[in-house]
Amino acid sequence: MPGKSTLIAPSILSADFTNLKSSIELAEKAGADWLHCDVMDGAFVPNITFGPLIVEAIAKSSSLVIDTHLMIKDPDRFIEDFIKAGSHQITVHQEACPHLHRTIQYIKSLGAKAGVSINPATPVSVLESILPDLDLVLLMSVNPGFGGQKFIPSSVAKIASLDTMRMEMNPRMVIAVDGGVTEENAAELSAAGADALIAGTAFFKAADPAAAARKIKGI
Ligand code: DX5
Ligand code: ZN
Repeated sequence: MPGKSTLIAPSILSADFTNLKSSIELAEKAGADWLHCDVMDGAFVPNITFGPLIVEAIAKSSSLVIDTHLMIKDPDRFIEDFIKAGSHQITVHQEACPHLHRTIQYIKSLGAKAGVSINPATPVSVLESILPDLDLVLLMSVNPGFGGQKFIPSSVAKIASLDTMRMEMNPRMVIAVDGGVTEENAAELSAAGADALIAGTAFFKAADPAAAARKIKGI
């Protein structure tokens, strides 16, 4: 969406888990737009993180948009729990949902915004039929499972292709990019069509997170 500053979503995965409250305050004071919650099940991705209990604690401690990224198999089993926990947006993986259309309608029926994420090896063309129904697409620019990985350069062309697709099919859909976002590559990602940038390491491990957030937002 040209003319708007890019949204930043610090990823809680890189926060201080012994002091989540202070990490959340840090994000709020730095002008964060969303808080990105990475949920991993040890099956769809080779890591395990946290469930609805932690999301609920985060949501209760923050006024920011709670953006929950479900890296779990058959997420329908837990979608209601994560919405009840306070998630405003639920993103599921195309690769993890045998009945993606049903899953998206289910998320919406429970009052949350619905997003789909795709892995680096998945082409944006798989989203064609579902695109009109989506509030957001989360393009993975690393293989999901861990914070602190290197940005995969071919993701830039995928952002641009998706931008073209959404202009025709669903101009209000948000494009978010997740993985390896830095102060250095943020401008290129925004220029390619990204509206929201997820930043774990680049935000929480920065010497000056507020300055990093401004740079990533392009303000
Ligand atoms: C990766 C997660 C990302 C991750 C981003 O599986 O989905 O959200 O936390 O971390 P950085 O910004 O460090 O790549
Ligand atoms: Zn994520």
